[in-house]
Amino acid sequence: MDLRGTMRITDDGRLEIGGLTCDRLAREFGTPLYVMDEDDIRARCREIAGTLSRAYPDVFVAYASKAFSTLAMCRLVHQEGLGLDVASGGELYTALQAGFPPERILFHGNNKSLDEVEMGVRAGVLRFVVDNMYELDLLEGVARRFRKRVHVQLRLTPGVDAHTHGYIRTGQLDSKFGLSIVNGEAMAAARRVLASELLVLEGLHCHIGSQILAVEPFGMAAAAIMDFASDLKRNTGCMVREVNLGGGLGVRYRSGEERIPLGKYASAISRVIREKCLAHGLEMPRLMVEPGRYIVGEAGTTLYTVGAIKQVPGGRKYVAVDGGLADNPRVALYQASYEAVVVTRVLAPPEERVSIAGRHCESGDMLIWDIPLPRLQPGDVLAVLTTGAYNYSMSSNYNRYPRPAVVFVKGGMADVVVARESYQDVAARDRIPARLELPYEASSSSCASAADSA
Ligand code: LLP
Repeated sequence: MDLRGTMRITDDGRLEIGGLTCDRLAREFGTPLYVMDEDDIRARCREIAGTLSRAYPDVFVAYASKAFSTLAMCRLVHQEGLGLDVASGGELYTALQAGFPPERILFHGNNKSLDEVEMGVRAGVLRFVVDNMYELDLLEGVARRFRKRVHVQLRLTPGVDAHTHGYIRTGQLDSKFGLSIVNGEAMAAARRVLASELLVLEGLHCHIGSQILAVEPFGMAAAAIMDFASDLKRNTGCMVREVNLGGGLGVRYRSGEERIPLGKYASAISRVIREKCLAHGLEMPRLMVEPGRYIVGEAGTTLYTVGAIKQVPGGRKYVAVDGGLADNPRVALYQASYEAVVVTRVLAPPEERVSIAGRHCESGDMLIWDIPLPRLQPGDVLAVLTTGAYNYSMSSNYNRYPRPAVVFVKGGMADVVVARESYQDVAARDRIPARLELPYEASSSSCASAADSA
């Protein structure tokens, strides 16, 4: 198995993360449990900022908090000196509650509500990344009412098809996101911002998709944005000062896979931007990127306890665990493929092929199909790797299961950063209308009276 981050295998074959064995974490905090390797998150933040800064003179890295947003995570990102991408009022709220400086926040979203726009303008976020004309209307109105200048980047669809799952591909023309370069919408939006007294056009943005492992699509997107910047300068005289290439950097889900080669990514995009600047006579803009998954993906591990085991005669062996699609919907949504190990027997040779099933009422609630593992017993703890991105952030209470806790581990210490939900939490916001008060009167029930008269 390829170890992620600070993972280590102890002499007696146990999986350790951040200096703590996973069986101990499971005992102490219960399962399912999201374990986040703090040193690995920090290392990825530094790796991205460092690699890009070596390739390009002026770089701003914003962590895309949709991948994993909590107060502690926002703090960590701030400590590491990165900016933050938020894509909703809730993510903005979380950032502000954590004390994240608004002047380092980019506000995304393809359908920001008036409330969200007001919240962003009031907070004074660094940039609104504007997705469409309707948002420009909202922004202009709010800017006028608040008597504030609002600094924007325009999200463009560059017409680049990144080869990734259809649900996480966004750069192609037929997409719900962004202003199309090809049909002139992007230029019209830019003119509109330039004509506004309150909106300031700072930059151009694109995000072509997620979990991209090849470098070429990023270079193509950068080229499309720079060509647009050149057209914009020719048409209007405006030279944008920022080019934001979004996120999308792919990570390793299974052993033997590789992350996107970061050095090549950095040199490819910086080369394209330099060359386009030379060719079109443009000034070098500030380069912005918004990685989410790359920063937290491999740092996350989910621990589960094995329960029921079922052998289908002549078929598969299903090993059910105490979690599933409510804490990791990515398998059902994107056919994502994960790997798992038994935390107390990491090096034990595989003895059988099993499928790891969730506990939810869906046949599609599977975590891993057909994985070779040592023979499992109820009570064994399994670790599913690379669950740091889009697992906790996309979790649900399906079947009214409380959401798991999240712990940060570092140097032999574990700290809860999100407390495990209780059953009380799950029902806490339910309300019972007066007409449903107990005691229940049988006479008022149509079913009961139908049965009586029958
Ligand atoms: N910037 C923008 C504008 C985005 O839309 C996204 C992700 C990112 C940055 C960060 O992308 P990343 O570096 O994490 O790939 N739920 C899906 C992924 C959806 C990504 C949405 N946008 C999944 O679990 O694979």
